[in-house]
Amino acid sequence: MGRKSIVLCGFMGCGKSTIGSLLARKMGMAFIDMDSYIEKKDGRKVSEIFEQSGEEHFRMLEREAAKELAGKKGLVIATGGGTLTFRENVDALKKSGSIVLLDLPVEAVEERLKYDTTRPLLARPDKAQVIRELYSKRLPLYREAADISVDASNSPMQICMEIMSEL
Ligand code: S3P
Repeated sequence: MGRKSIVLCGFMGCGKSTIGSLLARKMGMAFIDMDSYIEKKDGRKVSEIFEQSGEEHFRMLEREAAKELAGKKGLVIATGGGTLTFRENVDALKKSGSIVLLDLPVEAVEERLKYDTTRPLLARPDKAQVIRELYSKRLPLYREAADISVDASNSPMQICMEIMSEL
């Protein structure tokens, strides 16, 4: 029986990739960023997949990635902001790991994503409104999926320490 994985969950911009790579280093575990994993397998950027093949196709690739990664042990996994809003992905990933919500207030999310141009779902003139709508729909789902929740407004180091002490 190998070590359980740690699966980071939360809205775009909450720090899943930054915290994930730091946490993996501190824990001596391998780090996988799900978006990068999908990009590597598909050969296109997430934004190109959305643009050329649509969101549904991306969600299918994401589902496949969740299943594959759930079959491995001892990983720190940074999910995409949409991954754990789907029951199927939660069920798969929960089997192999503990789900940790990086909880960040919507105002902070908005501030962090203000100048971001990499997220296809936010490439719209009414960005702030889209963030608020998606955020309020998703937060309850993240909370339901998560085993523990940490305050993601703190520094990356503090957040890692909190995760390590709570798990
Ligand atoms: C998405 C979040 C992105 C990426 C894709 C869809 C979402 O990941 O998976 O653009 O639905 O919230 P990040 O949370 O790493 O930005």
